[in-house]
Amino acid sequence: MTLPIAVLVSGSGSNLQSIIDRIEEGVLDAEIKLVISNKPGAYGIERAQNHDIPHRVLLHTDYRSREAFDEAMMEAIRESGVDETGVVVMAGFMRIVTPGFLKAFEHRVINIHPALLPSFAGVHGQSDAADYGVKISGCTVHFVDEEMDHGPVIIQAAVPCQAGEDGDVLGSRILKLEHRVFPQALQWLAEERLVIEGRHVRLKVSGQPCATQPMADVQPNTCALVWPPLEKGF
Ligand code: GRF
Repeated sequence: MTLPIAVLVSGSGSNLQSIIDRIEEGVLDAEIKLVISNKPGAYGIERAQNHDIPHRVLLHTDYRSREAFDEAMMEAIRESGVDETGVVVMAGFMRIVTPGFLKAFEHRVINIHPALLPSFAGVHGQSDAADYGVKISGCTVHFVDEEMDHGPVIIQAAVPCQAGEDGDVLGSRILKLEHRVFPQALQWLAEERLVIEGRHVRLKVSGQPCATQPMADVQPNTCALVWPPLEKGF
């Protein structure tokens, strides 16, 4: 089934671009019904325009409350054709969504965070990890719940960190992997292969509805650890 998605952005939208590219390559079976930005001038909106994707700028400052803003987003998303079979993708969307929004799209909102959660949650994941001096950081795609950067984890990718490098350098290394794992997570959703069991997300092996990925599938020469492993095309 082609997965209907709405993408929420606040900035550059490079993750949005990676999703657009995988769709155009025919690797990701999804259709972006709407891109919403809460920031005027976000480059993500220009990316949507460049690919004839419907887009809206909804400024949160125009609404009297967080709930009212989220109601407006919900309405726009529903009108675009994303229903309970679709997914809302937070791709660099710098806002926390309300419980009402999450209820409207239950288990259908996903986010990408530029650190290995639960370490370095919050808006400065890359620089917090760099400043802390960790040797490995990475990114996490997860279902969104009511706590920030907290819901069940779908996929994580690890990258090495160099002593003394700053958050921007580390962040650009992480971003390259973000562009691979985020579309992959969406493809698993399109294939209905993700099962949430409490905090755990089980990935069903393609074609085998009950099986999960066996650990023996890790290739000895895998250099960047991405788990579950990326599949063909991602
Ligand atoms: C990414 O690093 C993402 O993990 C974080 O915000 C950044 C957005 O980048 N949530 P972009 O707008 O997709 O280029």
